[in-house]
Amino acid sequence: MKHELIKLEDIPKEGSVIVPFFGRDLHVFLAEGRPRAVANVCLHFGGPLECKDGAFVCPWHQARFDMASGRRIDGPAPKDARLLTLSTRVESDSLVYVWGEA
Ligand code: FES
Repeated sequence: MKHELIKLEDIPKEGSVIVPFFGRDLHVFLAEGRPRAVANVCLHFGGPLECKDGAFVCPWHQARFDMASGRRIDGPAPKDARLLTLSTRVESDSLVYVWGEA
Protein backbone atom coordinates (compact mmCIF):
# COMPACT_ATOMS: atom_id res chain seq x y z
CA MET A 1 0.00 0.00 0.00
CA LYS A 2 1.16 3.48 -0.83
CA HIS A 3 -0.46 6.81 -0.08
CA GLU A 4 0.92 10.25 -0.88
CA LEU A 5 1.00 12.45 2.22
CA ILE A 6 2.40 15.76 1.04
CA LYS A 7 4.63 17.41 -1.53
CA LEU A 8 8.13 17.92 -0.13
CA GLU A 9 7.97 21.63 -0.91
CA ASP A 10 4.99 21.97 1.45
CA ILE A 11 6.86 20.68 4.51
CA PRO A 12 7.96 23.68 6.59
CA LYS A 13 11.64 24.19 7.44
CA GLU A 14 10.64 24.71 11.08
CA GLY A 15 7.69 23.42 13.03
CA SER A 16 5.24 21.02 11.47
CA VAL A 17 2.23 20.88 9.21
CA ILE A 18 -0.94 18.91 9.87
CA VAL A 19 -1.77 16.41 7.13
CA PRO A 20 -5.04 14.46 7.01
CA PHE A 21 -4.66 10.71 7.00
CA PHE A 22 -7.73 8.49 6.56
CA GLY A 23 -9.84 10.52 8.97
CA ARG A 24 -6.98 11.18 11.42
CA ASP A 25 -4.27 13.83 11.48
CA LEU A 26 -0.52 13.58 11.19
CA HIS A 27 2.23 16.03 11.98
CA VAL A 28 4.73 16.14 9.11
CA PHE A 29 8.04 17.87 9.74
CA LEU A 30 11.77 17.78 9.10
CA ALA A 31 14.07 16.10 11.62
CA GLU A 32 17.74 16.62 10.79
CA GLY A 33 16.63 17.46 7.26
CA ARG A 34 14.63 14.28 6.75
CA PRO A 35 10.84 14.31 6.47
CA ARG A 36 8.94 12.43 9.12
CA ALA A 37 5.29 11.82 9.91
CA VAL A 38 3.84 11.08 13.35
CA ALA A 39 0.28 10.55 14.47
CA ASN A 40 -1.26 13.60 16.10
CA VAL A 41 -2.09 11.57 19.20
CA CYS A 42 -0.74 11.99 22.71
CA LEU A 43 0.27 8.73 24.32
CA HIS A 44 -1.25 9.65 27.66
CA PHE A 45 -4.93 9.88 26.88
CA GLY A 46 -5.12 10.57 23.16
CA GLY A 47 -5.05 14.35 23.15
CA PRO A 48 -3.95 16.38 20.12
CA LEU A 49 -0.38 17.61 19.93
CA GLU A 50 0.92 21.12 19.33
CA CYS A 51 4.34 21.76 17.85
CA LYS A 52 6.32 24.11 20.13
CA ASP A 53 10.06 24.78 20.45
CA GLY A 54 11.25 21.46 19.07
CA ALA A 55 8.67 19.41 20.90
CA PHE A 56 5.14 18.13 20.51
CA VAL A 57 3.11 19.27 23.49
CA CYS A 58 -0.30 18.02 24.53
CA PRO A 59 -2.55 20.83 25.76
CA TRP A 60 -4.67 18.47 27.85
CA HIS A 61 -2.15 17.63 30.61
CA GLN A 62 1.12 18.97 29.12
CA ALA A 63 2.93 15.79 28.12
CA ARG A 64 5.90 16.69 25.89
CA PHE A 65 7.59 14.60 23.22
CA ASP A 66 10.86 15.27 21.42
CA MET A 67 10.30 16.00 17.73
CA ALA A 68 13.41 14.24 16.46
CA SER A 69 13.05 10.99 18.40
CA GLY A 70 9.37 11.01 19.34
CA ARG A 71 10.34 10.07 22.89
CA ARG A 72 8.52 11.42 25.90
CA ILE A 73 10.36 14.31 27.54
CA ASP A 74 8.09 14.77 30.54
CA GLY A 75 4.47 14.84 31.58
CA PRO A 76 1.99 12.09 32.34
CA ALA A 77 2.57 9.83 29.31
CA PRO A 78 4.40 6.57 30.15
CA LYS A 79 8.16 7.08 30.64
CA ASP A 80 9.15 4.95 27.64
CA ALA A 81 6.38 6.27 25.39
CA ARG A 82 7.32 7.18 21.85
CA LEU A 83 5.07 8.87 19.31
CA LEU A 84 3.61 6.71 16.57
CA THR A 85 5.82 7.23 13.53
CA LEU A 86 4.56 6.25 10.12
CA SER A 87 6.58 4.27 7.64
CA THR A 88 7.34 6.70 4.82
CA ARG A 89 9.46 7.06 1.74
CA VAL A 90 10.38 9.98 -0.51
CA GLU A 91 9.24 9.38 -4.08
CA SER A 92 10.14 12.05 -6.61
CA ASP A 93 8.72 15.22 -5.05
CA SER A 94 6.46 13.72 -2.39
CA LEU A 95 6.48 12.06 1.00
CA VAL A 96 4.60 8.79 0.69
CA TYR A 97 3.20 6.49 3.38
CA VAL A 98 4.18 2.89 2.64
CA TRP A 99 2.91 -0.28 4.21
CA GLY A 100 3.60 -3.92 3.49
CA GLU A 101 6.30 -3.32 0.90
CA ALA A 102 9.84 -4.64 0.98
S1 FES B 1 -3.83 13.36 26.94
FE1 FES B 1 -1.95 14.27 26.51
S2 FES B 1 -1.09 14.73 28.43
FE2 FES B 1 -2.96 13.81 28.87
